[in-house]
Amino acid sequence: MALKVIHDPHELQAYTLSLFREGKTVGFVPTMGYLHEGHLSLFRCARRENDVVVASIFVNPTQFGPGEDFERYPRDPQGDKEKAESEGVDVLFMPRAEDLYPLDFQTFVEVERLTRGLCGAFRPGHFRGVTTVVTKLLMLAFPTRAYFGRKDFQQWRVIEQMVRDLHLPVEIVSCPIVREPDGLAMSSRNVYLSPEERQSALSLYRSLRKAEALFREGETRPQVYEQAIRTILESAPHLKKIDYIAIVDGLTLEPVDRVERGTLIALAAHVGPARLIDNWWVGVDSLDLPS
Ligand code: PAJ
Repeated sequence: MALKVIHDPHELQAYTLSLFREGKTVGFVPTMGYLHEGHLSLFRCARRENDVVVASIFVNPTQFGPGEDFERYPRDPQGDKEKAESEGVDVLFMPRAEDLYPLDFQTFVEVERLTRGLCGAFRPGHFRGVTTVVTKLLMLAFPTRAYFGRKDFQQWRVIEQMVRDLHLPVEIVSCPIVREPDGLAMSSRNVYLSPEERQSALSLYRSLRKAEALFREGETRPQVYEQAIRTILESAPHLKKIDYIAIVDGLTLEPVDRVERGTLIALAAHVGPARLIDNWWVGVDSLDLPS
């Protein structure tokens, strides 16, 4: 099936509801475009598990705060269409902002506790924008399964919670972080980095590798991890500011007293002009790269 591009929300909904009536399974991957291997890994996973794959590309204004990078967020609609088509995406939904947010729009979805810490503490209103747009997209794509990357670990957990709390009829599937060959977590925002800043950005991955080494030595004290990570991050030349080094339970995202399997070590830091995040889910994900 050739790639079908849909701009009109009602057209997408009519189409996916017809698929639902025919008993077809639909896998849905929401994105903000400027697609890279991280996104493509979600397309592949959706392709394997469903009859039809729907992806969306929408740079969602409500999840960007004032002074954040909404205007300069990278965009490449033509390149994205080609990548989506070659990964076997059936439908690419590219709505216009005025169709998703008409002038009289006034309904928001908010998940409470899980959005207070980590990125939620530094980006007020961000998750409210994410959960609102994802709810809308789920209602339009009406998927059997929706796919999220664990690069945005908190986002995945918040959406899982929302789907449970609101009884949304969709299964949320999470997929591991895809990294560059040198370990940098793939992100559309990596284009903001100069070659020197990109070298500094590797310190996030390196500090997580250090955490992995500590875990292998049997270390359980969160302060020891925090200090080791801070030392590595602070020695990186273009690292401007650490937003957080969080050592939390992977389900509740609350701080833990002991690092063990299922603990999440999550970082956010500003490198040059980019705010970068990365994480390691202890004992679940491996930071070893395929050589
Ligand atoms: P975006 O940043 O484009 O990411 C879309 C999806 O790709 C998210 O689920 C994200 O976790 C996943 N992803 C990004 N980089 C990844 C990587 N290196 N490895 C694995 N998965 C990766 O996240 C958003 O868009 C938006 O908030 C959205 C959910 C679309 C709502 O607007």
